[in-house]
Amino acid sequence: VEQPRRGPSLTLLHSIPIFAGVPDAQLEQIAKVAFHRRVPRLTTIVRAGDSTDSLYVLISGGAKVLNSDEEGREVILTLLGPGEFFGEMGLIDGSPRSADVMSTETCELLVITKNDFKRCLAENFDLCLNIMKSLVQRLREADRN
Ligand code: CMP
Repeated sequence: VEQPRRGPSLTLLHSIPIFAGVPDAQLEQIAKVAFHRRVPRLTTIVRAGDSTDSLYVLISGGAKVLNSDEEGREVILTLLGPGEFFGEMGLIDGSPRSADVMSTETCELLVITKNDFKRCLAENFDLCLNIMKSLVQRLREADRN
């Protein structure tokens, strides 16, 4: 008999690009430590300057990454959609959150805490590489702006 589970299914994890190439045995570990969180639209999920506790993967819905300019006006750095993640920067270098991330619609999120995420990285070279690829992509995009 299937027990009810807090965590995501392997099928769901398989559909998320950062978990591409990560073996099932390790996805099962991730499924054990990740939990679901639902947030309404226009909710601040991550606040610039806060200390860093978790990585977030967007399962459904959308979010925007925001900064303020010198006059305090909101600047949208990027829009995030299903399958994309955020909150990795603070986990990697221990700095406070670099930007606000706010839901633009109702979101289903996977949340992985800092320590669990670091443990997953230590065991998964593909996961490290996927995170690095995404950082490189974001850097290239930032260079274009
Ligand atoms: P972190 O700094 O932990 O919290 C804010 C998050 O917003 C950050 O991690 C990234 O995931 C994301 N973020 C910050 N700046 C950018 C950017 N220029 N492009 C895309 N995502 C960003």
